[in-house]
Amino acid sequence: MRTRLAASALLATLILTGCRTPPVASPSPSDTAPSRSGVADVGYLDPSLPTTERVEILLSQMTLEEKFGQMTQLERGSVGSGDVATFTLGSVLNGGGTIGYRGDFDTWSTTVEALQREAVDDTRLGIPILFGVDVVHGFGGMYGATVFPQQIALGAANDPALMTQIGHASAEEAAAAGVRWTFGPVLAVPSDIRWGRTYEAYSQDPARVSALGAAYITGLQGDDLTRPDTILATAKHFIGDGSTVYGTSTQVIQVQYQLDQGDTPADPALLNDVLLPPYRAAVDAGALSVMASYNSWGGEKVHGIRTLLTDTLRDDLGFTGFVVSDWAGLDQINPDDYQDSVERGINAGVDMAMVPFDAGRFQQALAAGVDSGAITIERIDEAVARILTVKFDMGLFENPYADPSLATTVGSAEHRAIARRAVAESQVLLKSDGAVPISGDARTIVVVGNAANDMGIQAGGWTMSWQGGVGDEIPGTTIFEGIADRADPGVQVLDSMPDAGSVDVCVAVAGELPYAEGVGDSSDLSLSALSVVDAFAGRCERTIMVIVSGRPVMITEALDRADVVVAAWLPGTAGEGVADTLFGDLPFTGTLPMNWPRDPSQVPSLPAGDSYLFALGYGITTP
Ligand code: BGC
Ligand code: BGC
Repeated sequence: MRTRLAASALLATLILTGCRTPPVASPSPSDTAPSRSGVADVGYLDPSLPTTERVEILLSQMTLEEKFGQMTQLERGSVGSGDVATFTLGSVLNGGGTIGYRGDFDTWSTTVEALQREAVDDTRLGIPILFGVDVVHGFGGMYGATVFPQQIALGAANDPALMTQIGHASAEEAAAAGVRWTFGPVLAVPSDIRWGRTYEAYSQDPARVSALGAAYITGLQGDDLTRPDTILATAKHFIGDGSTVYGTSTQVIQVQYQLDQGDTPADPALLNDVLLPPYRAAVDAGALSVMASYNSWGGEKVHGIRTLLTDTLRDDLGFTGFVVSDWAGLDQINPDDYQDSVERGINAGVDMAMVPFDAGRFQQALAAGVDSGAITIERIDEAVARILTVKFDMGLFENPYADPSLATTVGSAEHRAIARRAVAESQVLLKSDGAVPISGDARTIVVVGNAANDMGIQAGGWTMSWQGGVGDEIPGTTIFEGIADRADPGVQVLDSMPDAGSVDVCVAVAGELPYAEGVGDSSDLSLSALSVVDAFAGRCERTIMVIVSGRPVMITEALDRADVVVAAWLPGTAGEGVADTLFGDLPFTGTLPMNWPRDPSQVPSLPAGDSYLFALGYGITTP
């Protein structure tokens, strides 16, 4: 009876308001008082109490609706005026897109702060929200932020101490804008480089992934998460995201996905020997949130598998934080039945749902699940307690707003220097026939190719927008500019081939165009931009080829046409780091984080008796 009434009320509201689902119950007027005055026991606000006690006091005073709120993470674009309070949201995320055109520090800070004020001032209990963003190579969505090399590049650099510095720098720039939570690092161990998220992962070597992921988490979270210059890390995507079988994905967003969100075979050896070690390292490093993965495991969506999300993650690895779903990830458990999806996901161990569009719909489903007994109150309390524990341990109740002194760290010279070093360390010298370092005798240097002077291409996906873009997307130094700035006075650095005459050094910078997630799934790993070397025909004393890509691409035939070949990955804003190694100011020390196939027959795996063009770990080092 109760459900039927609720359903008809719901229908009436839907007719009135379009497709937005209302909250489970509207708070009574006394509930919305802007202070804690109506709250019987404000002991949870006392920072001198242990977290467990604060959680207990708070939880015991929360209505069921307020608990549902903590379990809801709504996307900023769907948060209407008053919604933080109406749905008592526990979290807001900003998806892959930026805020407004080239959302800068001021835009971000103002937006995040306004939402936080609503949570703190306009809700009965004043529980601060956690604002989450994919700060995955620095704050790529904030115009003017330092954009670091993508994870695959950092896998090539393989320098844990550097990872901690990058983590800390990224945390400072995000926290400056009030963003205290990032959805990273990606701890996938990609088996098939046709996957569009290959560049978001560090390496095919689980040991590298473990060491770099843990060091980065240490940088993000620091040794004390109550410090205002730290942010919460997310180990993602648990588990099997990079091990799916080509052609098993059913997702269609812009294109038919092939690998991303597909099916990973339920192979215990794969799980224990390859996929879990990085998560064990992340948990040991203190990671307090884990994101469930879109992929299936043996044909079943991971979001609904309790043995993985709870037994393995908590009982085996000792994880104590909270599990967040991926973007509408619950919905995929049973695409025909949202109610069933929510019940299975929550019971499997998802504590907070990332809800892109409709908070009310999720909360109604939670309510119906509790009503029918499909979801127990104990399970709700457990999820909420985990989320609140992290919020208390981060000091969010004491310091819900950004520390203004952090503003100067955004895009600072100090952070750019870290990024530059990271770029230099991540360059992998694949072939070297004496053309590097570029000698002081070179009087003309030509730097051409689609990625030579293009900030968007060298930054890749998750930059200003989900997919990233070509062109002048963000401020920074392009590879061309880095070379031009570094060349000795009097040296001509040209961005196109002169009409006639010979050139001392020709640099071809060829890149993949930006992509993200399954949109980048591709069986075609050729790099058409390499044809730029055709223009060099017989006119270059020395030819250097720089590959800008998110994964190994097919360069076997091009190898003979260059004296030097460098894998530069997706360096981000500090293009001068490429010049640092080409001119010999810094040595080449990077090594391949992944096997580099000779031809497409070697993807996803090497035929017996065959060998890669360059194997994982390869890289010519220079003094
Ligand atoms: C991705 C996650 C990301 C989330 C929020 C999802 O599509 O799979 O990696 O954190 O969106 O942007
Ligand atoms: C969002 C991303 C999200 C993706 C998944 C995009 O619109 O910006 O954050 O990962 O959708 O569908």
